[in-house]
Amino acid sequence: QEYKNLLVETRDKVALVTLNRPKALNALCSELFDELNQVIAEMDNSKAIGAIVLTGSPKAFAAGADIKEMCNTNFVDNYKNNFLGHWTQITEARKPIIAAVNGFALGGGCELAMMCDIIYAGEKAVFGQPEVKLGTIPGAGGTQRLTRVVGKSKAMEMVLTGSWNLNAQDAERVGLVSKVFPADQVVDEAVKTGNKIASLSQPIIQMAKESVNQAYELSLSSGLQYERRLFQSTFATHDQKEGMTAFAEKRSPKFEDK
Ligand code: HXC
Repeated sequence: QEYKNLLVETRDKVALVTLNRPKALNALCSELFDELNQVIAEMDNSKAIGAIVLTGSPKAFAAGADIKEMCNTNFVDNYKNNFLGHWTQITEARKPIIAAVNGFALGGGCELAMMCDIIYAGEKAVFGQPEVKLGTIPGAGGTQRLTRVVGKSKAMEMVLTGSWNLNAQDAERVGLVSKVFPADQVVDEAVKTGNKIASLSQPIIQMAKESVNQAYELSLSSGLQYERRLFQSTFATHDQKEGMTAFAEKRSPKFEDK
């Protein structure tokens, strides 16, 4: 299928989705986001795919929501239409999504990266929440997901000044990003990690992702309970038997996603 604002290719068991609106630095217009939701849902349901890598261009992962598009919208319409509500859809994907970020990840771009499960960054990546400079505030996780990751003081500094950005090295130091690579290697490294994950048992990976995500929703005791129950339920799978038997027999496991 052809998309107007995306490029989609498959690399082994990884779907590589590239935001492709270079003239606007991948500003996330609603058409782009609709296409992104569509492709993520499709890949999430594809048997051939075990992980998704989301990337942008060398200059910009995404420079935010589309300012020109939202400039003249009003509160009542935004409220009625649940403006940006559809942005959370990709966080419902069961398969892991790895963001491979080069260049600007600003505003909605930074928020989109934070909706992914793992973020890899190129050396020149820049993460920031410049919304206050436009007379608005972050609307898709910039005050919430960012705060949980980098802590209150750094989040406040970024969100309140709008110009205090994290470069790739700082982003890695504070844990927003898990690894930094030379710019031209980020996508390949993300695909490599994606394929490593995709070589494992899909239902088990899905449970692992589900469980980590509960750490952001539940109290510690409820989260531990949730984790333990999912852990126990892995013993109902073929792949748990196979994984542990293979270890005991000193051979590689052959997972069958069941
Ligand atoms: C619409 C955008 C855009 C955006 C860039 N462009 N960002 N269009 N929405 N968010 C367009 C420019 O208008 C320009 O179009 C072209 O992309 C190239 O951008 P330049 O500004 O010429 O590039 P440069 O000088 O290199 O500066 C790069 C930049 C700057 C620093 C990233 O573009 C910038 O500040 N962009 C806005 C960043 C921002 O404020 N993001 C937050 C958006 S609000 P033309 O047609 O002139 O060539 C947001 C709200 C989130 O995300 C709420 C919840 C999601």
